Amino acid sequence: MERTIYKSQVGQILIDADSIASAISALARQITSTFKQSQDVSVIVLLDGAKRFADDLFGFINDGKFRLEYIDVKSYNGTESAGAVEINGDLPNLEGADVLIIDDIYDSGTTMKHMTETVKSHNPGIVKTCVLLKKQTPRDYADVVDFYAFDIPDCFVVGYGLDYNGQYRQLSYIAELCI
Ligand code: IMP
Ligand code: MG
Repeated sequence: MERTIYKSQVGQILIDADSIASAISALARQITSTFKQSQDVSVIVLLDGAKRFADDLFGFINDGKFRLEYIDVKSYNGTESAGAVEINGDLPNLEGADVLIIDDIYDSGTTMKHMTETVKSHNPGIVKTCVLLKKQTPRDYADVVDFYAFDIPDCFVVGYGLDYNGQYRQLSYIAELCI
């Protein structure tokens, strides 16, 4: 099979690994406090990008009531948003369940808006959203993010789970991508 060579390289580091770890532990405290009254929480983790973030975040939360469910969602192609959000596979039964949706980054908001509306159509209890990064992008609608760790400029970033066509997910920091 022929392999495509992408002419890209990692640019300036925007957030280092230590800063990510301390921001995530603060987020973990906020989430624990918000869901204090909940018996069970379905945590919907949007693959692939949010897996590392969610796993590290819940590594700080020693409470079995949070059930992590990984859902394959696609909306980006290279550095361009494809506009439509595609969910591959089924959501778990969310009837009456409290839900936390986790993504890696909030850009135009299309993905989180679509996921929030889809989850709400299943008659859940409370629904909250959490991302690691929030881009300073003009959006067509009001924010649907309840928890986030960092504001970043409107540029394409990679690392700590975020990729460019499958590359650079493994970096332990967040960096700008130069193409
Ligand atoms: P939105 O739907 O425009 O908010 O974009 C969010 C989705 O696009 C995330 O789930 C990511 O998969 C992807 N995405 C957006 N910006 C970036 C980026 O800078 N790097 C890597 N993925 C991104
Ligand atoms: Mg994504």
